[in-house]
Amino acid sequence: MSLPDRKKYAGDTRRLLLAFDIGTTFSGISYSILDPGIIPEIRPVTRYPCQEHVGGDSKIPTVIYYDSAGKICAIGAETLKEGIEQDAEENGWTKAWWFKLHLRPKPQTTSASVRQVDEALPPLPPSKTVVQLFRDYMKYLLECAKKYISDSHGQTVWTSLQNNIIFVLTHPNGWGGPQQGQMRQAAIQASLVPNTEDGRSRINFVTEGEASLHFCLSNGLALANTQQSGVLIVDAGGGTVDLTAYCSLPDYSFEEIAIPQCHFQGAAFVTMRAKKFFEKLLSGTRFSDDVETLTMRFDRNTKHVFRKDDEPHHIQFGNHRDRDPSLNIRGGRLTLTGCDVAKFFEPSISCIVEAIKAQKSAAHVPIQSVFLVGGFSASSWLFDKVRERIEPLGLSVSRPDAHVNKAVSNGAVSFYLDSAVTSRVSPRTYGISVYYPYDSSDPDHRKRGHLVEIHCATREPVLHEGFSTILPKDTRVRTSQEFRCSFSRQAVERRSLNCLRATILAYSGLQKSPVWIDSDPLNYPTACTVEVDTTSLPVQMTTSATGARYFEISFEIILLFGLTELQAQIAYRQNGQEKRGRAQVIYEGN
Ligand SMILES: Nc1ncnc2c1ncn2[C@@H]1O[C@H](COP(=O)(O)OP(=O)(O)OP(=O)(O)O)[C@@H](O)[C@H]1O
Ligand SMILES: [Mg+2]
Repeated sequence: MSLPDRKKYAGDTRRLLLAFDIGTTFSGISYSILDPGIIPEIRPVTRYPCQEHVGGDSKIPTVIYYDSAGKICAIGAETLKEGIEQDAEENGWTKAWWFKLHLRPKPQTTSASVRQVDEALPPLPPSKTVVQLFRDYMKYLLECAKKYISDSHGQTVWTSLQNNIIFVLTHPNGWGGPQQGQMRQAAIQASLVPNTEDGRSRINFVTEGEASLHFCLSNGLALANTQQSGVLIVDAGGGTVDLTAYCSLPDYSFEEIAIPQCHFQGAAFVTMRAKKFFEKLLSGTRFSDDVETLTMRFDRNTKHVFRKDDEPHHIQFGNHRDRDPSLNIRGGRLTLTGCDVAKFFEPSISCIVEAIKAQKSAAHVPIQSVFLVGGFSASSWLFDKVRERIEPLGLSVSRPDAHVNKAVSNGAVSFYLDSAVTSRVSPRTYGISVYYPYDSSDPDHRKRGHLVEIHCATREPVLHEGFSTILPKDTRVRTSQEFRCSFSRQAVERRSLNCLRATILAYSGLQKSPVWIDSDPLNYPTACTVEVDTTSLPVQMTTSATGARYFEISFEIILLFGLTELQAQIAYRQNGQEKRGRAQVIYEGN
């Protein structure tokens, strides 16, 4: 099953669509010039300023060097320059790398795997925030796109398109609103778009998993018979491994069939384990300063060529007179056994294998084929081992050979153009905190009798800490599907009702139908806040059973969970008709 032919661009003016895939280790840009009445094509940027060798599938390092004043000294492709490490050392520059992972959602509990990420991550440069790093990097990517598009299509094309660019930014599967909010903030600070409603709406998001599916589809990969069987796309990158499972629908669209997963077990963690090994081996020896060189050489060479665990690997790092047989160092070369290298890979491989099994058992439709994409999937060792452990379960494992590392940015453009996914699976249970009027005949209420409070406006006895579900976890949600929850507020003064905020909670515990927050209080983190300007909404003056007079406002919050970004509106009744109003989704810290 592949995509039906792409349609002609239906807009009435020429526009530019630009996708930035900021990866943990490497980043890519793809674009499409949208011409009215013409079928859009997806093109990758294949040449960057300062890049020494031109490749057909180039991605550039997600690395920035800053001087002590915080000024950028080298960025992206510029950091590939021979001798940059020495320049950095001599000039006291700080290297920012793998900074993308600093944006990751921080879980509430600290497990071993969370600690492992914390320990492995290089710190941010002094007095820089992750949003500032994204800002600097996005600004640079925009410059690269400008140069490439101007060179390839003419300066006038760029000039005519630059003020109205549609952007697509990619992020790992496990990231949501708060991360999108920070990326949008960085994009505004980088002047990709102005900080206006129109500007903000020109920043679109897609998960790396969904972008990878689009890449596979737009490259005609045989995701055959997916109506009866699902496919699993595994994007094994530098930082994360993102798994997303789909099946196709009769109308050629795709639906997610399991909650997407994201694991911090990309190729960079293999390098980190090698680094730990070198540190342990060489600590207290005269070679302890060589750990960085060994790690770098391992990352650039050994890791890529490793394919057999019964062959030794040599890493040249020193002078040919350097020798210490007890450390396996001879002629300035450290020799690693194949088994040692295999151990560095093993946690990533078993994580991928377990994650595939978990997706297989969670999927609503049986998964029969697995596609490995992303830079890490170029590793033959990884591919062979995953295949060896997965194929006996009746799943085929393959990897598209062309341009796997451009998959995500090309796929992000295709996501915007082709929108193949029409249904997604809710990763958590969403709802709001509510109060219940006290009902002494209900045993759950009686149990909470000591918590009864008198409502400040209605003066009636109520129990707080109720939870009203808007969307249960693991539900198939169509992209256009609206979820409603009734919302009402009472107050003694009208003006207290002018601007209202509803907190949307995301239940992350094990209860199937959560009703009381106090029965599992640690598992109701705030997903976001919906802010509503209610000044133009009708308000009722009401008298309660106790005789208290108060104002009451009622409306419905409408949430669209099925898009790649949560959106909210309100609906209310006026003169017998339903009216719609705007609502803003706000994330903590944004
Ligand atoms: N043959 C190979 N063997 C092992 N690792 C490889 C090989 N080729 C590339 N890699 C690793 O793949 C990573 C790059 O992959 P990719 O570009 O998909 O990741 P990324 O986009 O930077 O990360 P992420 O998507 O997780 O944020 C690098 O860490 C690189 O070392
Ligand atoms: Mg990537």
